[in-house]
Amino acid sequence: MVTGATSGIGRATALRFAKAGAKVVATGRDQGRLAELAPHVDCTLTLDVTDPEAVAIVAAAVVDRYGGADVLVNNAGIGLFEGWEHTDDAALRRVMDVNLHGAVAVARSLLPSLIARKGVLVQVASVAGKRGYARHTAYCASKHALIGWSEALRHDLRGTG
Ligand SMILES: NC(=O)c1ccc[n+]([C@@H]2O[C@H](COP(=O)([O-])OP(=O)(O)OC[C@H]3O[C@@H](n4cnc5c(N)ncnc54)[C@H](OP(=O)(O)O)[C@@H]3O)[C@@H](O)[C@H]2O)c1
Repeated sequence: MVTGATSGIGRATALRFAKAGAKVVATGRDQGRLAELAPHVDCTLTLDVTDPEAVAIVAAAVVDRYGGADVLVNNAGIGLFEGWEHTDDAALRRVMDVNLHGAVAVARSLLPSLIARKGVLVQVASVAGKRGYARHTAYCASKHALIGWSEALRHDLRGTG
């Protein structure tokens, strides 16, 4: 399963996996782009990663249809590149909602089946999660947080395969 598969890295990843023979579940919000992708992948599903109900429905559909996920490419994300003085609390929350909370919600929803199948969780963060850049306060915060969550998760999952 690939999140944010309607453009950029997610779309390229979905197409590459499909070309390699994988049954790809491509997700995103943009209906037109999902429809364009549909002939190339096994399944397209509408998913806004900030909508907990939608996350639960998609995870249930993946388990129902495939028995679970072997690979989750947790890619959906947004950028915000402007000075700190223009990045108010609402903007910071918006970026954290998608890049941290959304990614964590999707990972959490599929982790039971990933663990059961000894699958792979790919967290698409950024070098902006490793260091700071000018006009990147919200984006850097969200990607640092995602990497922190993921590094801690790695410890929690030690021994599970
Ligand atoms: N491009 C780079 O240079 C670069 C560098 C480092 C890291 N990254 C990271 O790589 C990932 C993909 O970036 P990209 O450059 O390929 O960006 P992109 O072309 O803008 O694609 C972002 C994808 O995320 C989806 N998305 C955005 N908000 C969403 C939401 N609330 N729920 C579900 N999907 C959502 C978009 O689809 P919909 O609008 O259809 O939902 C779109 O498919 C991001 O996490 C980004 O931070 C990118």
